[in-house]
Amino acid sequence: MKTSEVLVSRTTGKVRPHQTQNEALLFEKSSPGKRAYKLPPLDVPAVDSATLLGAARRDQAAELPELSEIEIVRHFTRLSTWNYAIDLGMYPLGSCTMKYNPRVNEFVARIEGLAEAHPYRPESLAQGILEVIDNLQRCLLEITGMDAITLQPAAGAHGEFTGILLVRAWHESLGNPRRKILIPDSAHGTNPASAAICGYTVETLKSNAEGGIDLDALTRQVDEETAALMLTNPSTIGVFESQIAKIAEILHAKGALLYMDGANMNALVGKARPGDFGVDVMHLNLHKTFSTPHGGGGPGSGPVACKAFLEPFLPTPVLVRKAQDAPAPNSGASKSKNLPFTWSYDRPQSIGRVRAFYGNVGMFIRALAYILANGPDGLRQTTEDAVLNANYIRAKLEDIYELPYKTASMHEVVFSDKRQAAKGVKTGDIAKRLIDYGFHPYTVSFPMIVHGAMMIEPTESESLEELDLFIEAMRSIAREVEETPVLVKTAPHSTRVSRLDEVQAARKPILRWRPTA
Ligand SMILES: Cc1ncc(COP(=O)(O)O)c(C=O)c1O
Repeated sequence: MKTSEVLVSRTTGKVRPHQTQNEALLFEKSSPGKRAYKLPPLDVPAVDSATLLGAARRDQAAELPELSEIEIVRHFTRLSTWNYAIDLGMYPLGSCTMKYNPRVNEFVARIEGLAEAHPYRPESLAQGILEVIDNLQRCLLEITGMDAITLQPAAGAHGEFTGILLVRAWHESLGNPRRKILIPDSAHGTNPASAAICGYTVETLKSNAEGGIDLDALTRQVDEETAALMLTNPSTIGVFESQIAKIAEILHAKGALLYMDGANMNALVGKARPGDFGVDVMHLNLHKTFSTPHGGGGPGSGPVACKAFLEPFLPTPVLVRKAQDAPAPNSGASKSKNLPFTWSYDRPQSIGRVRAFYGNVGMFIRALAYILANGPDGLRQTTEDAVLNANYIRAKLEDIYELPYKTASMHEVVFSDKRQAAKGVKTGDIAKRLIDYGFHPYTVSFPMIVHGAMMIEPTESESLEELDLFIEAMRSIAREVEETPVLVKTAPHSTRVSRLDEVQAARKPILRWRPTA
């Protein structure tokens, strides 16, 4: 056996080495004249491209690869076998909520009338898709306990940006946009970036020993120049902020608002509503909580929900019922049937559009399908399962991996590499070794407040059997750290490429093929 096979054979029963084929670039495999298709002979008068395109006509054909159809199909299929995916196994990437996207969502999103609804379609012909949007808005308002919502933002960070613009517009309407936003040191990196891009100074709040907000520090730091506190709840260490109502009180007493980063709502849906515990404005990540696809660059969706006093500032257009006696736009109140929906642009205090058209509508359909397929009880069960799974892993691993915060975990658990670091093995090494055991790595070195963080989020998708395999893998790696640390420090051993220069890949990626001389 080769060394790599010996190393892999030590792993648990989940994986076994298997062949993957070498693959050159399509450009390298190209040979002149090959085609994947053949067009029928021209049966209309030919057009002179030089006359048609003028100066835009290129002198030489583009250097595109030339291959047959089967070569192209095999190329991409082979590449896909080098990859890892949620459809292959557990993807415990903490903070990212890599839950399974049920196929029924995809089925519904592909229904012709929905999939082909064009944003320029006249409203009279778009009532069905507008009703879908209205239904999703009302479901999300019910789930969050908020009063009004926009679905426009295209991602979580975009939602933060939109939400903070609402905060700013509201303060401005009172005469002073204020100067600073408070953000805990445990926050997702997008929070300070969003506050800064909206023109605010960011002031960091130190977390207390339980990983929550230090109320004394908050009271000291919040003043008449504080526009808002941006709080992720549950936080990035997977802890629910139990003082949330008190925090809202402290902020409101100084005229500041409470922004909740609701990207982790998968730990709260059906159990607690931010609108009921003092939150003024929040965003959701449909691509985390409501099982729309993510990773690989999107498309995401980051709706922003707010309390009624912020509603006049929402981005335009806002979906309303046309009739005079319709309930307040976006109010979430039940509406009589058969009134046509229309987009309202008449919103003098609006922050304006934040995205072209109405948002990533395909994601709205998937999220609504997921919500309706689960129903209220199903969504609550989903939340409970996500929290149960994280706590199961915590209970099974806390004797061998350091748990820096003992506060009860919600949907994710954050260990540190403290004990393994004593043997020279870091969180990144353990994560790489997990690949040999057939798992996607957990999130490495985040959140920043935990040195050597190992952030694990199993989600509700995983069965007890898969969780047990993961736990077995983590325990086995911990043993390897004691007995043969070099095995872990040099992992992965079973992949086509081992340790990549990640800095070089991020800073100087080679993204373009260039012909060799
Ligand atoms: C807590 C939290 N906030 C904000 C974001 C940003 O969301 P997005 O990546 O969609 O911009 C994420 C993403 O995972 C998150 O986990």
